[in-house]
Amino acid sequence: MLVPGKIVLDHAFQNHYAVGAFNANNMEQVQAIVDAAAETQSPVFIQVSRGALKYSRLIYLKHIIQAAAEEHPEVPIVMHLDHGNSLAVVKTAIGLGFTSVMIDGSLDESGKKALSFEENLSLTKAVLDYARPFGVSVEAELGTIGGVEDGAGVKRIHVTDPAQAEEFVKQAPVDSLAIAIGTSHGATKFSGECVLAHDVQQEIHRRLPHTPLVMHGSSSVPEELVAIVNKYGGQMPNTKGVDIPQLQQTIQHGVSKVNVDTDGRIVMTGAIRKFFVEHPDKFDVREYMGPARDALRDMIKGRMIAFGSAGQGPKIQQINLEQAKQFYAR
Ligand code: G3H
Ligand code: 13P
Ligand code: ZN
Repeated sequence: MLVPGKIVLDHAFQNHYAVGAFNANNMEQVQAIVDAAAETQSPVFIQVSRGALKYSRLIYLKHIIQAAAEEHPEVPIVMHLDHGNSLAVVKTAIGLGFTSVMIDGSLDESGKKALSFEENLSLTKAVLDYARPFGVSVEAELGTIGGVEDGAGVKRIHVTDPAQAEEFVKQAPVDSLAIAIGTSHGATKFSGECVLAHDVQQEIHRRLPHTPLVMHGSSSVPEELVAIVNKYGGQMPNTKGVDIPQLQQTIQHGVSKVNVDTDGRIVMTGAIRKFFVEHPDKFDVREYMGPARDALRDMIKGRMIAFGSAGQGPKIQQINLEQAKQFYAR
């Protein structure tokens, strides 16, 4: 069933686990995500970026995600807009039936200029005012997570200031807050070992003891997955992603949602490359998309277990947007 983000986030927060948020662009990815959730009894965020909305011509993904919810009514699924950057995009997502939106006010709409604290705050407040009457949950971002955010090519990381985070949530009481503590998007995260600002993260949690925190840029870029891509003709550099034990540490201190996209891209690419090299005579789309879907499902199951969400799905009271409206009206 499609549920508002807040229901899942609050359950994760109170029970010290994190829900995995996985990006989808097509049917196979949605199926892999929901199958992983069903098999591990996890709640899940299926998240759609602006690029994915465009690629899927707005309505296709919405219907595919609704199909996943119909196939698996027992799984609490949040249909989430990833990195919305304007009220207009948020309105589009809510119009499509999304149950959760992210407003990323860290950068302006071009993705090139940082928004000021005040600009981010006023954009986030406008999104809250718009989303609340629909029962839709809102995630904001403070600080800048490095890497390519929706193709903008931004490469900078501004670690979130805990005092600002406290002030931000006081003025804009969002359902969750994405923070920057050293992660970045994409496959190239750390040149050496993974270093996260755990002290900053814990201080933010201390100052915001009731706010679920979100970790973006959380792919771990496993060496063995990159090795499969390269073994079958790929040319990915060997880089370091986020260390899973370090992620688990953040989950003990208020991180309730962990975003993973890149690992899914790597695992599907590896499976497809392998298939083509091993079966140069084959050309049935289902024969190579099937193994890619299975490989993605298995990777995601591993993350759900690592983040502690496995087994939590049946414990979540499922509500719909109509019920969430009353919840937010309180
Ligand atoms: O945060 C970015 C996500 O990985 C989505 O990437 O904009 O290329 O779909 P995308
Ligand atoms: P990765 O690039 O590390 O998978 O991060 C994805 C993400 O944060 C989506 O919002
Ligand atoms: Zn992100």
